[in-house]
Amino acid sequence: MTITSILVLALAVSWGADATAGHRDNAVILRRDCPDYTSYSAAKHPPYSDGSLNLPFQRPAQECRTFISPAVEQVIEDITSNIVDNDLAQLFRNAFPNTLDTTVRWHANSNNSTTDPSLSTKHKREDSQWQGPQTFVVTGDINAEWLRDSTNQLSGYQALAKQDPNLQSLILGAINTQAEFVIQSPYCNAFQPPPPSGLSPVTSSQKDTVHPEYDPSVVFECKYELDSLASFLALGTEFYENTGSTEFLTSRWYKALDTLLSVLDAQSQPTFNGQNQHVANQYTFQRQTNTGTETLNLDGVGNPLNGETGLIRSAFRPSDDATIFGFFIPPNAMMAVQLQKTATAIQAAGGHADLVSKLQQRGQKLQQAVWEHGVVHHAKYGRVFAFEVDGYGSQLLMDDANIPSLLSLPLLDFVDKNDTIYTNTRKMVLEKGGNPYYLVGSAFKGIGGPHIGLENAWPMSLLVQAMTSDSDSEIRECINLVRNSSLLGLVHESINVNDINKYTRSWFAWANSVFAQTILKIAAEKPYIIFGDGAEPYIL
Ligand SMILES: *[C@@H]1O[C@H](CO)[C@@H](O)[C@H](O)[C@H]1NC(C)=O
Ligand SMILES: *[C@@H]1O[C@H](CO)[C@@H](O)[C@H](O)[C@H]1NC(C)=O
Ligand SMILES: *[C@@H]1O[C@H](CO)[C@@H](O)[C@H](O)[C@H]1NC(C)=O
Ligand SMILES: *[C@@H]1O[C@H](CO)[C@@H](O)[C@H](O)[C@H]1NC(C)=O
Repeated sequence: MTITSILVLALAVSWGADATAGHRDNAVILRRDCPDYTSYSAAKHPPYSDGSLNLPFQRPAQECRTFISPAVEQVIEDITSNIVDNDLAQLFRNAFPNTLDTTVRWHANSNNSTTDPSLSTKHKREDSQWQGPQTFVVTGDINAEWLRDSTNQLSGYQALAKQDPNLQSLILGAINTQAEFVIQSPYCNAFQPPPPSGLSPVTSSQKDTVHPEYDPSVVFECKYELDSLASFLALGTEFYENTGSTEFLTSRWYKALDTLLSVLDAQSQPTFNGQNQHVANQYTFQRQTNTGTETLNLDGVGNPLNGETGLIRSAFRPSDDATIFGFFIPPNAMMAVQLQKTATAIQAAGGHADLVSKLQQRGQKLQQAVWEHGVVHHAKYGRVFAFEVDGYGSQLLMDDANIPSLLSLPLLDFVDKNDTIYTNTRKMVLEKGGNPYYLVGSAFKGIGGPHIGLENAWPMSLLVQAMTSDSDSEIRECINLVRNSSLLGLVHESINVNDINKYTRSWFAWANSVFAQTILKIAAEKPYIIFGDGAEPYIL
């Protein structure tokens, strides 16, 4: 094994991990005192912000943090010393490092893996799992890694990777680890700690019947979500765009890409073949549940799809709720972009020209399919993007808070935010009359979704709204709504629209990352909003 140093992570002991299997050192003894962050984050800790909301300081004690980056600490210092609003500053102070502070359960930094003498032949290296740096990043209060969440959790640190080699190694490790997950179970959305981490897998209480079958010691949950695979690509393309490095393009990564492409092929197949005969889908999922969105009808297949669209089916959404019509537009848009960005990275690395052009073509074809089949006419809003279609003409018009969403399409680099079809769509999804999941109450408002229910809007949707807006007043309102509803000093998953004290998840790292990214975007593009009149842009 090429792993030369293992950081057994801070909360491992209190989280019930098997410390004896990892590398014991003195630090483990110190870490026994680290509290479980699920309960820690649900209580308020000093020092308080001294703003009108008096928000608490929620970072774990230094010795309990799971990863420390001087570059990240510097940004916290720069931003918080300049933000006028003390509450907003406190929220940034807690939120920006939240993924590093609390969710890096394992990071192995193998410095020089490819020169490991035990791997003398090329062949042997190609077949070796867990080579190079590895990083396991959990979602927060559930001790498993979601491909989508972890890509987004790390996204805000990508711009700093170049100046902090340890951070670069952390992200490179996350790409390598995701590649192993994709190779092993490409249909699955959430994963267990890698075996070399020595951390114990967590047992899921769900009773699921899934094909293809998976190993529960590797997989935490196996909902097939097209955006999970697009997130795997995005983690690499963001790394390339920010660092210029193509180090992640290893033989394991190429194997993961191959695996991913074969899933895209299988999930582009129609429900009925050219002779009108039903063709079984490679993927089926059934859960014993009384919640309709947690399982798939028609024996675990989902509703029929008409094939000749060029779109790719997704069985579930980024909320982990089942799709109604499998041609779910936001992840198709994201995948179209990511295939093309991946081609660019491979080209920069001098990779196979055939592969580069194949990826470019696939991406462009998918992009055309989204414009052709994903845009529909709405009597009130005009031409808009549908949330889901089935290729028969049926369409679902709504939006869900989770990213990728319709609202987030410009952030995914799919469409310009001034594009008329996008602006029509944006108007539709941000109105009660246009989006069944736009939720408004006496205390809070925003987009929600079926995952938590009809009284809970998600702060994440307000952050995406802020990041896709040119209007200062809209940006201010969105940020202030999130600030006002983050009374534990961290961003929640969802907030009851009539009572901000009723929330879900005190420890949801992804939402904290999206908040930090929003503040950093404002700092770069409209600094006066948070730093006051005349402030200079702050650009990472
Ligand atoms: C790491 O690899 C480089 C060349 O790729 C080599 O010069 C260096 O000595 C190696 N370092 C270690 C610690 O193996
Ligand atoms: C790798 O090792 C070299 C020499 O020991 C060190 O300078 C460098 O910072 C290390 N790189 C990472 C990513 O840890
Ligand atoms: C988009 O529109 C706004 C106002 O309508 C304008 O200020 C901005 O420059 C436009 N952006 C692009 C990229 O065209
Ligand atoms: C946030 O709360 C403050 C009071 O602390 C209030 O003045 C403001 O209107 C609220 N903002 C929003 C957008 O709800």
